[in-house]
Amino acid sequence: MLWLFLPLIFTQPTLYPGGSTVQGTLFLDREAHVAGFFGQTFLIDNIPFIDIPDQLIQDVYYYRWTSIQRNIRYVMAGAGWMCTEFVQPVGYAKAFGTIDAAAGHHIDETRWLRSTHYADDYIELYTRGPADSVQYTQWILDAMNRRSMVTGNVEFLSAQLDDMKRMWHEWDFVFDKNVGLYYYKPVWDAQERSLPCYIADPNGTDPVLQNDGPDTFRPSHNAYMIANARAIARTADLAGNKSTEAEFDKLANVLEAAMFKHLWASEQKFFMDIIRPDNPDLTRLTGREQVGLFPYRFGIGLEESYAQPAVDAMFDSQGFMAPYGPTTLEIRDPWFMGEKPDGYCCYWNGMSWPYSTSHTLKSLAAIYRAGNTNVTTQQYYQYLWTYAKTQQNEGRPFVAESHYPFEDDWSANTANHSEHYDHSTNNDDVITGLLGILPQSDDSLIISPIVPDGWTYFAVENLPYHGHLITVIYDKDGSRYNQGSGLTVFVDGENVLNTEERYAEVSIPSAILPNLYPLVNIAANPSGPGNQYPKADATYTHAADFHYKAIDGVVYYDDVPDNRWSNIGSPNVNDTLTVTFARPRNISSVTLALLSNVGRGGSVDLPEKIEIYGSDGLLAAVGNSSELLANDRNEITFSETETDFVAVTLHRKARDVYVGVCELEVWAPPNRGPTYYAADAYLTGASTRVVRDSSTSSSSGAVVAVGPDSGAVSFPGVVSPDHGRFAMLTVGYRNGGGAAAELAVEVNHVPCANVSLAPTGGRYGTATVAVALAKDKNWVVLRWGDAKAGDAGIRIEYVKVPT
Ligand SMILES: *[C@@H]1O[C@H](CO)[C@@H](O)[C@H](O)[C@H]1NC(C)=O
Ligand SMILES: *[C@@H]1O[C@H](CO)[C@@H](O)[C@H](O)[C@H]1NC(C)=O
Ligand SMILES: *[C@@H]1O[C@H](CO)[C@@H](O)[C@H](O)[C@H]1NC(C)=O
Ligand SMILES: *[C@@H]1O[C@H](CO)[C@@H](O)[C@H](O)[C@H]1NC(C)=O
Ligand SMILES: *[C@@H]1O[C@H](CO)[C@@H](O)[C@H](O)[C@H]1NC(C)=O
Ligand SMILES: *[C@@H]1O[C@H](CO)[C@@H](O)[C@H](O)[C@H]1NC(C)=O
Ligand SMILES: *[C@@H]1O[C@H](CO)[C@@H](O)[C@H](O)[C@H]1NC(C)=O
Ligand SMILES: *[C@@H]1O[C@H](CO)[C@@H](O)[C@H](O)[C@H]1NC(C)=O
Repeated sequence: MLWLFLPLIFTQPTLYPGGSTVQGTLFLDREAHVAGFFGQTFLIDNIPFIDIPDQLIQDVYYYRWTSIQRNIRYVMAGAGWMCTEFVQPVGYAKAFGTIDAAAGHHIDETRWLRSTHYADDYIELYTRGPADSVQYTQWILDAMNRRSMVTGNVEFLSAQLDDMKRMWHEWDFVFDKNVGLYYYKPVWDAQERSLPCYIADPNGTDPVLQNDGPDTFRPSHNAYMIANARAIARTADLAGNKSTEAEFDKLANVLEAAMFKHLWASEQKFFMDIIRPDNPDLTRLTGREQVGLFPYRFGIGLEESYAQPAVDAMFDSQGFMAPYGPTTLEIRDPWFMGEKPDGYCCYWNGMSWPYSTSHTLKSLAAIYRAGNTNVTTQQYYQYLWTYAKTQQNEGRPFVAESHYPFEDDWSANTANHSEHYDHSTNNDDVITGLLGILPQSDDSLIISPIVPDGWTYFAVENLPYHGHLITVIYDKDGSRYNQGSGLTVFVDGENVLNTEERYAEVSIPSAILPNLYPLVNIAANPSGPGNQYPKADATYTHAADFHYKAIDGVVYYDDVPDNRWSNIGSPNVNDTLTVTFARPRNISSVTLALLSNVGRGGSVDLPEKIEIYGSDGLLAAVGNSSELLANDRNEITFSETETDFVAVTLHRKARDVYVGVCELEVWAPPNRGPTYYAADAYLTGASTRVVRDSSTSSSSGAVVAVGPDSGAVSFPGVVSPDHGRFAMLTVGYRNGGGAAAELAVEVNHVPCANVSLAPTGGRYGTATVAVALAKDKNWVVLRWGDAKAGDAGIRIEYVKVPT
């Protein structure tokens, strides 16, 4: 028996592109900036630190990293990370809680985290996985492209070219060829109860129409599509495909011309909506909506004749400017209603929405930088400051859904639902707008801040860029940071430039790319209790808590909403949380995100002692709770062992103090093939389930039983070293019926073949099918309909891909 105790400060496995060789600077007091937040290790490890003379904007900046942190979820091994919008999943969300509406904002914000895996994995959930990119309008491809200029990882981007083209063409169904524009209902442009909805149903006689609105040609959606097309063109250029580059450049230009022709209203000097049904003359609406300010951020309309009227409208107190604005509809519009007409949460007829403010701030920065208008640095700062002032609740930084434009109160903020709503950017605007970090497509960085003239200092420290760490400090007289006066830039801790200007261009060493195969968390189960492994159980669980929440991939430490297993009320001196794998695994650590809320009126504290058991008995013990971090991750390591389960026994400190685990993670090397087990896969279908079967051809003994209903086994993270490589996919299975079963095979969202599973009687056999795989990680899905599975006792054991 092995008694091993190691002091355990959690370090996220293989986080950084350059690993420990990349060192930054240490001017700012990082601990002081994250004091008071939960999950401090994540923050210290991942975020760029700032120091600015505006406390309001600075406090909101640090808070907003914690709202991102709460909304980052580990899906499962092979799929990795994603980002959600609501901390509690909502019913209309798609795969794993994805909602594509704000995915572009998520990518813009998370591109500044030091670990690139969060956003790499999230992007691949859209490009290759099951996330739905036509539920709402989105600018995901554009965000991917701009993010590649932050990571410097053009290989990752260009490997997704085919997937990006597929995502583009998924929108063909709402392209009006005669008009040359895309249309969609406002509700699916993320804006229910907005102007077109009221114009189409002015008397409120059709509740669905008034909520959803009619099909509408919108400046938002069409600008997203132009930006997405340009992203594909640049990606094609990087991938060396000139014909695709030319094709998508042209698509973008033609779409942009149609936007100017139809949506730009010269009489109103604004990009307007056009309702599509019963409108053959394409008559534009007359009310100005904030969506008309979105195109500028995508480089559309930056000439003076389009941009100056936009600036004028932004700063017009009868236009979009309000104390807690900008507003989603012009204040002078007859349909502008700052008050909600009924109890429904979400109005886009004037309320201030961070989602739209994010677009508007980026448009304002783009217009400022184009230099064709009279907008000033002070005005940009005013908008950013107003946004920070809006993001408050009871005197502390906070973000919910929407805010009243003239009242210091959130208009959509439901308890246990809207907290820390992740539907916007803020920190990307501080970094790229205010502090002027302008990512470039070559080995350089431009620094061009939009700060008020009077500022005597500002700093951003250890900002990840091309796998390096950048620090920019401005110190007018050199007294704050003692590094000389003016603007100083450090790359990987080395002073590379000092200038009296507030502008700099620096060259950056070639990009350091991330580890393609980081450790994966084999304890995460995105499906909840049911037919899929891993499974969680506990000797005692508090009635309001849930042991499954310890392996749902979601980590936050709040009391409302909460996300934890706890043993509050347990009669036992210790309780054990057990996670059972589908098959034996080799592991060498367990990571516990431990809750302590005794300091805020709760009854949960760190455990007095912890023991961890596996198939071979005791694996590790922590005998001194002062070594543990409260409300943070703690990694407990031990010698590698093969085990079916981990059982974590936690001892309470006192009779009336309990223990809580927000997440139990087991980080292990990823499976890189050639065999991918169905028992590890993502299962859908009411009766698709993992069963034990010792007669399998491998030693794993766990297979997936196909029930009578339709369903699928999805294998994420199937590795291929090359792009477009034809591989013979071998399916290990058993078919006890009398007839062959046909399963559809999908690779990266695309149905590409059928595989026929001939009867095998009681034994296991194989079938093969040729499929083309993309470079790096693929989603390979085996899908069946009701009729096909029947009662044949079909069991799927694995897919195998030659490496
Ligand atoms: C709405 O009601 C007004 C007044 O009753 C009426 O004149 C108008 O035709 C109605 N509009 C629609 C679209 O039903
Ligand atoms: C470019 O993309 C097109 C369309 O997908 C494809 O047919 C062509 O083979 C590609 N060309 C190169 C050089 O990869
Ligand atoms: C900018 O020009 C507009 C006219 O387009 C004018 O109304 C506004 O006052 C000017 N703003 C400033 C800051 O000079
Ligand atoms: C919060 O919502 C979740 C999911 O809807 C529910 O399980 C939980 O009980 C709620 N918590 C509170 C404190 O209302
Ligand atoms: C945990 O508590 C149980 C009783 O609930 C007891 O039998 C067991 O010995 C305790 N484990 C340890 C390691 O103290
Ligand atoms: C665990 O590692 C051992 C030694 O490398 C190996 O023989 C065994 O097959 C591994 N078990 C699993 C489940 O991968
Ligand atoms: C527990 O750890 C703390 C901090 O490292 C140390 O000061 C203390 O002496 C340890 N207690 C025991 C009983 O080992
Ligand atoms: C798979 O088979 C179905 C009929 O069973 C057919 O409609 C479909 O086109 C086939 N798919 C492929 C990719 O061959």
